[in-house]
Amino acid sequence: MAGFHTTDDLDAGQRLLVRIDVNAPIEDGAVQSTRRFERHAESIRELLDDGHALAIMAHQGRPGRDTFVTLEQHADVLSELVGEEISYVPSTFGEEAIEAITELESGTGVEDPGDAILLENVRMTDGELPEEPPEVKAQTEFVRTLANAFDAYANDGYSVAHRSHASIVGFPEVMDAYAGPVMADEYEYNTSVERREFDGDVTMVLGGTKAEDVIAAMDNLEDTVDTFLLGGVVGELFLRAKGHPVGHDLEDGPDLYDDNYEKNADLIDDVLERFGDRIETPVDLAYEDENGERAEHAVADVEEKTVSYMDVGHETVELYQPIVEDSAAVLVKGALGVFEDERFSYGTVEVLRAAGESDGFCVVGGGDTSRTVSMYGLEESGFDHLSIAGGAYLRALTGEGLVGVEALERAAERMDG
Ligand code: 3PG
Repeated sequence: MAGFHTTDDLDAGQRLLVRIDVNAPIEDGAVQSTRRFERHAESIRELLDDGHALAIMAHQGRPGRDTFVTLEQHADVLSELVGEEISYVPSTFGEEAIEAITELESGTGVEDPGDAILLENVRMTDGELPEEPPEVKAQTEFVRTLANAFDAYANDGYSVAHRSHASIVGFPEVMDAYAGPVMADEYEYNTSVERREFDGDVTMVLGGTKAEDVIAAMDNLEDTVDTFLLGGVVGELFLRAKGHPVGHDLEDGPDLYDDNYEKNADLIDDVLERFGDRIETPVDLAYEDENGERAEHAVADVEEKTVSYMDVGHETVELYQPIVEDSAAVLVKGALGVFEDERFSYGTVEVLRAAGESDGFCVVGGGDTSRTVSMYGLEESGFDHLSIAGGAYLRALTGEGLVGVEALERAAERMDG
């Protein structure tokens, strides 16, 4: 049981400063997935129906990246899903924000819900970044200004709770602090994996593009996981380490491989040496041929990488499926291919389908990976939990604490006594 208080413990009609995580994939400036929004919309509805007035904080992207945009469209998506106007305020703690916060009115309950606003992308705010200790973040002007304008702080952003940023660890140092519904639910499921004993093999399916997080998790999960099934960027990087001529950047392809390989080559070699016999890598890979069709070739036949790999091939799926089906627990993090493109969804979808249909315990994490389930009509009830977290989910699986959760726990201790 977690040592934090939750928003269920609050009396109705409070003024709350709430951190959520609707960080989404962005293409041409537009939000591509509403999966996180859907979960947070339920929380927001619940809080408004308890009469609370909400000033919501969230981030999008990182400075310098194309995904680093304002939250105007996020407010529209949330308003639509919550069924209530959530106005976007283009400021976080400037004059405009303070004015909007002052005007927020709380209510008494379902018949009289509170108001809600969404403040500007917190990563555009001085003091939010970089990662620093909580006591340093608590001293920022950002935290000192907003802390006085609310009755309490609530963190519902489990998926960003591994970042020691002001909106995560600063406010709970100086305010009464509560976990929101998404935070409490994700915490319960994701930490349960580390606490559980399984009566059989534990298999982990790993893919996606955030190779560094994944490799670090493999290093920590040596004693927990019996078999690792790899795909995506990490799959190619392991193939490269085993001596295959793949896992390189192509001149006209994305920069996903060379830097990642350079940074992680020693750890990959070490992991392969320690428990390489329990790590399965793709035996065939899929790419787009000159007619725009899906084509595949065996990894053993590749003499030089000349195409971008978009999925694992059919032989690989045939190798992975029975392992998944015979496991007592399957933990999924990241997609095996570019599942958004139907031509290259086969590997991700079929391995997920096998996991969902098997009798074992199954948790799917990785921001976007769980989106595959609804996108390709897989039966949601086949999965024990679909996490909207990526990095935080991996850390929870390895038993590593999350600074955002620890901050809520410290606040609870202070509040209790
Ligand atoms: C995520 O998408 O994993 C979280 O929102 C954290 O984002 P970050 O990796 O940019 O800190």
